[in-house]
Formats: sequence, structure tokens, C-alpha cells
Amino acid sequence: MTLIEDIVLRKILDSRGNATVEVEVYTLNGYGRAAAPAGKSTGKHEVKAYPAGGIDAGIKYFKERMDNLIGMDSTQQEDVDAILHEIDGTENFSMLGGNVATAVSLAIAKAAANSLGLPFYQYLGGAFARSIPKPVGNVLGGGKHAVGGTTIQEMLAVSLGESAKDNVFANAEVHKIVGKKLRERFPNISLGLGDEKAWIAPMDDIEAIELVVESVKEASESTGVNIKPALDFAASSFFHNGKYHYRSRALTPEEQIDFVEDIVKDYGVYIIEDPFDEEDFESFAELTRRIGHLAYIVGDDIFVTNVERIKIGISKGAANTVLIKPNQIGTLTDTVKAIKFAKENGYATMISHRSGETCDTTIVHIGVAFGVEFIKTGAIGGERIAKLNEMIRIEEEIKGE
Ligand code: PGA
Ligand code: ZN
Repeated sequence: MTLIEDIVLRKILDSRGNATVEVEVYTLNGYGRAAAPAGKSTGKHEVKAYPAGGIDAGIKYFKERMDNLIGMDSTQQEDVDAILHEIDGTENFSMLGGNVATAVSLAIAKAAANSLGLPFYQYLGGAFARSIPKPVGNVLGGGKHAVGGTTIQEMLAVSLGESAKDNVFANAEVHKIVGKKLRERFPNISLGLGDEKAWIAPMDDIEAIELVVESVKEASESTGVNIKPALDFAASSFFHNGKYHYRSRALTPEEQIDFVEDIVKDYGVYIIEDPFDEEDFESFAELTRRIGHLAYIVGDDIFVTNVERIKIGISKGAANTVLIKPNQIGTLTDTVKAIKFAKENGYATMISHRSGETCDTTIVHIGVAFGVEFIKTGAIGGERIAKLNEMIRIEEEIKGE
């Protein structure tokens, strides 16, 4: 019943209008579909999304070798993912492409769940998978996701209420208030949205943080939900020649540590992601020593969902939270290993969308299945609300409403 009968791959659009890969897997009585997203501010140590010849070469490479998976039991995820590694034969999926591997791996798991008649989160997590991660939604930003915005890539809201539904609406409310404040502040210019549907405005980083902090406060009061501000610096993208380059100044790593510490203390920032370059474990460790008790310090580009890199971070006391993006590492097995390893070592986890997305909702299910604390998946926008609305559905199901 759960044996893999067929695998279909196709190119589909992502939210930036680029091609990405979608995979469908058929068993005798089940079906699973998954798509891979695309990053723009990607970490140097991520697996390669596609081989040298691009997406078509990745699809072709897989099709020529997919007989290795046909007839396998779709419930044997570790074996399936071992075959994907074997088919590729490299350390970083540079022959098959991490995106093809990710979409195949997830689609097979979803076909297994469907064959057994279980929701995906329940198949993965069992009867005790009942907590929904707190949503972290991007409301204002810049970096590589927008032209003319802030240097800090993402300014976000994280809603900490008990109800997932209240939380996603609370984040959307922050997004609305930020929009209203921007229109008041810039009555004569056109405002836009970045890749993750956060507002873009020609603002200095501190000005922008203050506007978000104000908006978070207002939304907290009007919705009654406890909402906090969060930041993803994506600092590797503005670290050049030993300094962090903001619009009007450049900071040394030591100055950057002080700057981030002050921001957390002054503005009550609850989550800080990638405040340093992706190789700088030492600065992460120093910041964690100083403010690790006040904020979640998240490693994205520095850890790239990779157990070996997380291990280095743990040994040095760098960060206290691991960002989880399945296509940074290429298979479901490796993704789950990263989540479990982080948790076993007392680190929190945050599962995340990418800036180029599809309407795929798999990350929500993985988040619920493994008790992931946070999910970063935007505040509004079609490919973002696909996931936010899935959280509302899963919550209904869990609560038996
Ligand atoms: P991405 O970055 O553009 O690589 O998806 C998002 C992030 O830095 O979290
Ligand atoms: Zn990031």
C-alpha cells in the first residue's frame, strides 16, 4: 500500500516569477505533493539548490536515476533519503540539486502519510504533536529582498498568544498599522512591498525599528495578543572588508555586538536573527553571553540547518536558536536531525519559509510535528497566507472544533 509507484517532477512558478520544482509521488492508494522554495540571501554553506546546468539539469539527472526509488516503501524515510544522497554522490547535492532532493523527499513523506490516511503533521509527530509554532511575520524591511529599503533585511512581529488564529491575525494587524504609519510619514511617495510582502520605505534602520516597535505596541493593545518585535539582520549580506555597512556608517564586529546589544535592550526585541557574518561564531557567542537570557538569538546562514555547523555553534555557545529551512540541507531526514539535535542541546528552533515561495504548506506540518517554537512565514501575501491559513486549519483539527 505504501510502496512508491511513480514520481512526477515539473517546473512551476515561485512567488518571484522564477521557476522552481514541484514533485508528485504516487503509491498504490496514496499521493503526496511538495515544492521547493528559493532563497535570495542564501548562506554560503547551504547545499547547492541546482546543479551547474540549472533546474532542468537537476530534473533530468533525477529522472534518469529515479528507478532507484520506485518500489521502495514510502514510510522508510531514512532509507529513501539515503538513496537521494547516493544518487547525488556529493557532499552538497551539487549533482542532483538540493531543491530537487527536498521536493522529492517531502513528497514521498506526504505520500506515505496520505497512504496511511493521516494528516502530515500527525504522521510525522504522532498523537502528541499538538502545539502550533508562534508565527513570526515580516512587516518592514530591505536587504536583498527589496530595493531602497532598510539595511537590516527583516523587521518582524511575533505573536505569543495561545491561539494560532489570533496570532496570525495579530501579525497581519501589525503589518496594517505599519502601512498606515508609513503613509502618514511619506504622504507623497509610492510605497511598495518586498519579496516577503513586508513594506519597503526609504528609512534609516533605527527609524524603521522605532516605527515597528510602535506598531507592535498598538496592535498588542487593540488585539489583546502579546506581540513582540523581532529582527533578521541577514548581516552576511552587508559585511564587507571586515565591517558591517549601514547607510551612513560602517561598524567593526565589536561595534556591531554593542549595537545589537543596545537594540535588544532599548527596544525589547524578542528574536534576533543573523546579526553577524556567517563565519563569525565568536561574535554570536559573545552576544549570547551578554543577552542570551533576554532574547532568542537565531542562526540561519551560520548553521544552514546542518548538524555539523550547529555542533560548532553549540561547542562555542553561539546563539540559542536554530533556523530550520529544509532546502538548506536537502532532505526531510537531515531537517529532522537538525531540529532534534538543536532541541537535545537546549537550543530553540524556528522553521522558516524562503523569500521565493510557493503555496506549499509542508513547513507548517513539520513545525507542529516536532514542537518547533516559532515559524517565520510572512504576515500577508498569497504564498505566505497559504501557510498561515494552514496553521488555522491544523489548530481547528487539533482542538476538535
Ligand atoms: P532567503 O532569506 O532570501 O535566503 O530566503 C531569508 C532569510 O534570511 O531568513
Ligand atoms: Zn535569515
